[in-house]
Amino acid sequence: MRNQITFDYSRAEAFISPEEISIMSRQALDAMDVLLGRRGVGKDCLGWIDLPKNYDPEEFARIRKAAARIRKNSEVLLVMGIGGSYLGARAAIEFLGHSFANVVERNTRRAPEIYFCGNSISSTYLKHLMDVVGDRDFSINMISKSGTTTEPAIAFRVFKEILEKKYGKKGAARRIYATTDKEKGTLRQMADQEGYETFVMPEDVGGRFSVLTPAGLLPVAVSGADIDTLMRGAVCARERALKNAFMDNGALQYAAVRNIFLRRGRSVEIMCNYEPGVHYICEWWKQLFGESEGKNHKGLLPVSADLTTDLHSMGQFIQDGSRVMFETVINIEKPREEIVIGREPQDLDGLNYLAGKTVDFVNKSAMEAAILAHTDGQVPNLMVHVPEVNEFYLGELFYFFEFACAISAYMLGVNPFNQPALDHYKKNMCALLGKPGYEERREELMKRL
Ligand code: PA5
Repeated sequence: MRNQITFDYSRAEAFISPEEISIMSRQALDAMDVLLGRRGVGKDCLGWIDLPKNYDPEEFARIRKAAARIRKNSEVLLVMGIGGSYLGARAAIEFLGHSFANVVERNTRRAPEIYFCGNSISSTYLKHLMDVVGDRDFSINMISKSGTTTEPAIAFRVFKEILEKKYGKKGAARRIYATTDKEKGTLRQMADQEGYETFVMPEDVGGRFSVLTPAGLLPVAVSGADIDTLMRGAVCARERALKNAFMDNGALQYAAVRNIFLRRGRSVEIMCNYEPGVHYICEWWKQLFGESEGKNHKGLLPVSADLTTDLHSMGQFIQDGSRVMFETVINIEKPREEIVIGREPQDLDGLNYLAGKTVDFVNKSAMEAAILAHTDGQVPNLMVHVPEVNEFYLGELFYFFEFACAISAYMLGVNPFNQPALDHYKKNMCALLGKPGYEERREELMKRL
């Protein structure tokens, strides 16, 4: 078994030429030079590059302490945040945890139930979450770098009220953990005034690059995962990304190959997984690449598919629809659990030919079958192999994608670290909600409704 995550584009080689690889490898190396020389656009947002080595040990220790406190005094942790202040933590917890973590017995989970909210504005979801929390002991981790985002702010107001009713204002404050900017924003002000314990989202690390900051680390530590090992994995991936030559550098190769496909008119990348636990890693990846690259009318559209599930819904299109895509598979080489298929005396379901084989053997066979079919159908295939599910390989995976994303966006000629277009809907929403300061925009929008 490999002892690191690896990138493999051998099954895409039939679709690209060695000349293209040679040209794009130079472009990827140039992009890396600009990135590491801090000469590119968005150079104030490069804190994530050294984060695995340069994090604040005092804060790291406080994260562990706070996590231990939450684990001890809470049956439920509510994690509030959206986008980059949500997806990394959820990706890690769902990848590393039990598939049914919130419903198995606490002895199996060995952590509070963890629920995410503030990632939508659904009153039904919030109400149903209140039903789940009931009158049990709970804590809140409110995560917002700007400290002003509407979705988590609403969820926070709703559950803060419940918390204060239950424990009193002071007692509630001891159960609220705010992860936000060091100085700026409403959440920072509120936390300082009310005395919440706070954790810092560094100024030079954008939301979607923040999974290895307290934004990801506190909820992940509460889930019982080992955040030291997670960081160690990221350190290893960083070493390889920064030091290896192109031929041994998966992150550079991935950035180069996806840009070749884009220039060949394949503007959709489908990130596929064959393990439900990887679903939210794909969601995290979608935000990372979508928000980093999709600007100035450029970029690959990142979509994802959970397989084999979606082979029964998207399979037809992938096999034979318009040829606009390539697929990247996150392959978990060794499953966390194994089941051997039994033999039945009467082979009523016709499955005895699989007796003695493992369920994962069937899953891997399905994966190989789909890859062969899709490449026959002119869909190039890229693979990211993950030896097994643990904190170390997850840390590697996060860093691998972050680094590749920055390189890929620089190759594309866009700033990976801003998201100016997001403001459009946010300002419209503030105007329609009647927020002070948005009167003119409101008037204009009301005419169009
Ligand atoms: O990647 C980003 O910067 C965004 O997705 C933000 O994380 C998201 O909009 C949430 O912002 P905030 O953390 O300020 O509430």
